Order: sequence, then structure tokens, then C-alpha cells
Amino acid sequence: CGIVGYIGKRDAVPLLLEGLARLEYRGYDSAGVAVTGKSGGIRTVKAKGRVRELEAQVPKRFSGTTGIAHTRWATHGAPSDENAHPHQDTSGDVAVVHNGIIDNAGDLRARLTAEGVGFASETDTEVLAHLIGLSDADTLEGKVREALSRVDGTYGIAVLHAAFPDRIVVARNGSPVVLGLGDNEMFVASDVAALVRHTRQVVTLDDGEMATLQAGSYRTFTTEGSRTASAPTTIEWDAETWDMGGHDTYMHKEIHEQPEAVDRVLRGRIDDRFATVRLGGLGIDNREARAVRRVKIIGCGSAYHAGMIGAQLIEELARIPADAEPASEFRYRNPVVDPDTLYVAVSQSGETYDTLAAVQELKRKGARVLGVVNVVGSAIARETDGGVYVHAGPEVCVVSTKCFTNTAVAFALLALHLGRVRDLSVADGRRIIEGLRRLPEQLSEILKTEEDIRRIAAEFGTARSMMFVGRVRGYPVAREASLKLKEISYIHAEAYPASELKHGPLALIEPEVPSVAIVPNDELLEKNRATLEEIKARSGRILAVGHQDHPIADETIIVPRNEPELDPILLGVPLQLLAYHTALVMGRDIDKPRNLAKSVTVE
Ligand code: G6P
Repeated sequence: CGIVGYIGKRDAVPLLLEGLARLEYRGYDSAGVAVTGKSGGIRTVKAKGRVRELEAQVPKRFSGTTGIAHTRWATHGAPSDENAHPHQDTSGDVAVVHNGIIDNAGDLRARLTAEGVGFASETDTEVLAHLIGLSDADTLEGKVREALSRVDGTYGIAVLHAAFPDRIVVARNGSPVVLGLGDNEMFVASDVAALVRHTRQVVTLDDGEMATLQAGSYRTFTTEGSRTASAPTTIEWDAETWDMGGHDTYMHKEIHEQPEAVDRVLRGRIDDRFATVRLGGLGIDNREARAVRRVKIIGCGSAYHAGMIGAQLIEELARIPADAEPASEFRYRNPVVDPDTLYVAVSQSGETYDTLAAVQELKRKGARVLGVVNVVGSAIARETDGGVYVHAGPEVCVVSTKCFTNTAVAFALLALHLGRVRDLSVADGRRIIEGLRRLPEQLSEILKTEEDIRRIAAEFGTARSMMFVGRVRGYPVAREASLKLKEISYIHAEAYPASELKHGPLALIEPEVPSVAIVPNDELLEKNRATLEEIKARSGRILAVGHQDHPIADETIIVPRNEPELDPILLGVPLQLLAYHTALVMGRDIDKPRNLAKSVTVE
């Protein structure tokens, strides 16, 4: 979900609608806007569907210099006009937009209903609006504080009140809230993407913090009311970084940004003298790094898959047992938390709730947790003891491409570092460093084959279902490629270790179910060839991705060779393009696939 708010001299409505469009990648099933009208009183417009649907419904004379808006990804209650935010209390004086989940909404709703309060929606957020409306505190801050003291759960909220037209009150607990400081105008958003066009001076609230925004000033304080220091920081990326830059979709742009993105994650980090890397933010010294007995990596979606590549890199280069697990599974199975294990949380946004909650649980049990995160200063980045920033730049398409690749490269750096403080030789260190340096150029080469891949997509894109297989280093590549295809084309796809194919999934192979096989020229090449034979013998069509032509396959995509350990970073890139062009021929909404959102900040 996304929140945006404005207070100043300009008409808030166009600013809010533009901000919402920028936030749409965070949720796009319904949207709404509320403004304090000139004659006092709050007016709202809400609509099911995309922001443009809302825009079409905003009446001509709907304006005001103070307003809040929201774009939603449904959790409680289906997408509908009623369930769209902002939500109001019975009097209509209060309007609230909310990200997160109020856990005790059911109880509170029952209690309020018993007191005679009528509800207009099925959402948890409406409870907050009523609680604020019913509070008899004298100030809006007091009302919000009182309401928040009764709720359990996570929230980023922005509140308008007809009786306090000179301010917006916001609060954060578990869902991001960023203030944007302008010249006699203030913005608030759940994501800097919504305000970077107007100001790059921002203040990020901490959990448990609230703020009051007035046109010419802002104030931050704790939910208990004591003032907090809030030094503004400057957003490091230009506003243009969030634009499409001549591409038809963000996904296409982000795929093509990979050579420069990888260059960025490497920049300044390679230490040629010792054939190692400098990771300034890691927060563990070499002695501690040597003492690590295991590495456990957690993340969700593509971040989890990048973590699988990371675990293999760490095992191979540092010879430390390592594995990756979905963060949600990890946190719910009461894992044994071991003091000699290094935990690594992976997240593009740094906000994914399952990952954040796992980090919090680990910290509570005294574990050491690093972050491999893209968004600087995000919740997971702050909550971890240190880590490696991925420096992919803003990623807007819901599905991850450049950030996935950069995360894998960041893991290569971490693995190299852990390896070099242990038993990895200088020679092997050099070999990996040289490999890393070749990546940007090799990525550019892969991207030049786009036309071929477009043709292959037209051929394979008619499939009812697709099977992705890979072995060891190729397996996470297959997993990610299969996820990518599912997410944006809605073609069913499965990913299996190539060796497991014969233990069941081979039953699915038939001409309408083509296979994509990851077959690098590594020590498993012969084994992988056998898999291709198995598939062919069942009259399955094959697309091979590897380092040489495979005549048995119907199509082969040849990727430049790097060092075997680093090959997985490159092998998946043509399959991003395959998913992209398949979705394109099918006419899918590539940047905003159905039912999904960029960051899932709820459980
Ligand atoms: C969502 C997105 C996925 C993403 C996952 C993890 O489910 O749709 O594309 O991989 O969240 O996001 P994170 O920001 O933690 O990397």
C-alpha cells in the first residue's frame, strides 16, 4: 500500500494524484483521496481499481491545500469503493489513510459496534478513524495518540481532522513514513518515490514516532509525546531515476540498467592489494568473521532466491556451511538460534514484514544479523547489526530484476570477504575479483541478444505450463526464472533440481510443456546433458541456457562464461528477458502484475 499527504499553498489534489501514481507499484486495487475543503469539512473520493480510475472520478471543483491519499493492496476486505482509504469516522470530521494491519481490529470493532458506532467498510483501518473521532483529547495529536494506545498491530498513518485544518498528523509503527520538507509546504509519504519530484530533503520516522506537519514547519515526537530529534537527510538519487527513461516499462528499463547497477555495487569495494573486498558497513571484524560456523540466509520471493545463490557462494568460497530459507517459514518454525551462526536478511525494499519480523525475533534471541538490502535506511537496514548495501538504485517494477542481480553480486563480495579471512587463497581471490570485474561487460553482451530472446518467447510463450530445471548452481537460477515467468505472464511454471525430474515431475513432460534447462559448462555438464536426453525422450521441447550450443535442445541461449562460481549471476538474465517478452506478447500489465505488490509489509 502507499500513503501520500500534502500541506501548503498549492492545490493538494493534483500533487496527491501524481504521488499516488508514483506509489502504485505498492498496491493497485483501489485508491482514494481526502482534502480539507475551503469552507472547512473534509471531502473524499474513493474508487476501486487503479489511480487513473480515481482520477476520472474526482469532481472538477474538488480541491484544497491540505490532503491525504492512499493506494491499496487488499488485506482485510476485498477491493471495493467502500474498502478503499481514506476512512472516516461517523461525523465525517476525521479521515485516515493507513498501511499495515491492526491486529485487534475485530475486538475493537465489536466494542465500538456495541456502543452504537456504525461501520461503512470491512477494513481494520476504519476502527482507527472512529477511535480518533471519539477521543475527547483537545489536540489532534492527543486524539491520535489516544487512539493508537488502544490498537495492537502495525501502522503508518496520516490523519486529517476538520477541526484542525492547519495540520496533518502522522505516526509510524512497522510501516514506513517519510516526511518531505519543502519551502512552505510539507509532504508525507510511505516511500520517497512519491515526493522526490518536490523535495529531496527528508526525515524518516522511527517506529514509535509521530509527527505534525504544518505548511511552514514540522515537529516529531514519540507516541508518548516527548520531542525527538529528527535530522533531515538528502535522498541520494535524482528524481529522474524514478522515471521510465524512454523505455515502455520499468521492467525493461531495470533489466537494461544491470551493467551499470553491477558496476555500482562493486565500486570502491575491491582491494587489489590483498585480493579481497572492503565492506565498510559489515560491522564484524576479521576475527569475528573467522569464528562464524554457519551462515543462514532469509528472505522472501526473489530475495530468497538471491539468498540461495548467496548461500552457495559462501559455501564455495568461504567453505562455511550455508543455506537459505524463506523468512516466513523461518520465523514460524521456532528455529534454533545459534550464537556461532551468522544470519543474513535479504530484502530489496528492506520492509518486507516477514523478513523484518524474522530479524526482530533473531535479535531478541541475541543473534548477529546482517542485512543485504537495497533501500538505504529502510527498516531491515536499521534493524540489522550491519550489512552490505546492494546499490541497485530504485526498482519500480513489481518483479525484481536488477536488484536480484545486484544482490547476488553483493553476496559474491560477502563470500569473497569471508573466504579471504579464512582459507581462500590469494590466487582464487584474484580469480573471483577478475570475474566480478567482467560482469558488467558480459551483462551488456547478454542484453544485446534481446531480439533472439523475443523470437524464442513467441515460440515458447504459447505453453500451458513450463518446467525450469537446473543443478546445484543452476537450481536457484531455475527457481528465479520460473517465478519471474509466473509473476508477469501468469503461465504456470515449476522449478526443479534437474536430478529430481526423474522422481516425479517427468510425468508432466509433453510437447505442450516445454522445459528451460540451465546447463553451464561446469563439472556437472555431463549430468545435465543426461537430463536433456531424458526430456527429449519424452518428446518435450527444450530451451537450453548455457555456454555452448546444445544440438539436442530446440533452442539454446548462449551466455558468456565467467568463473564457475559466478556463472549463476549471468545465466538468469536472458530468462528475465524471456519472461518479459512472453508477458509482452500476452498483453500483460508487466510492471503491475495482478494480485501482487512490490513490498508486502503485512504478514
Ligand atoms: C514481494 C514482491 C516480490 C519480492 C518480495 C520480497 O512479494 O512481489 O517480487 O521479491 O516481495 O521483497 P523484498 O523487498 O523483501 O526484496
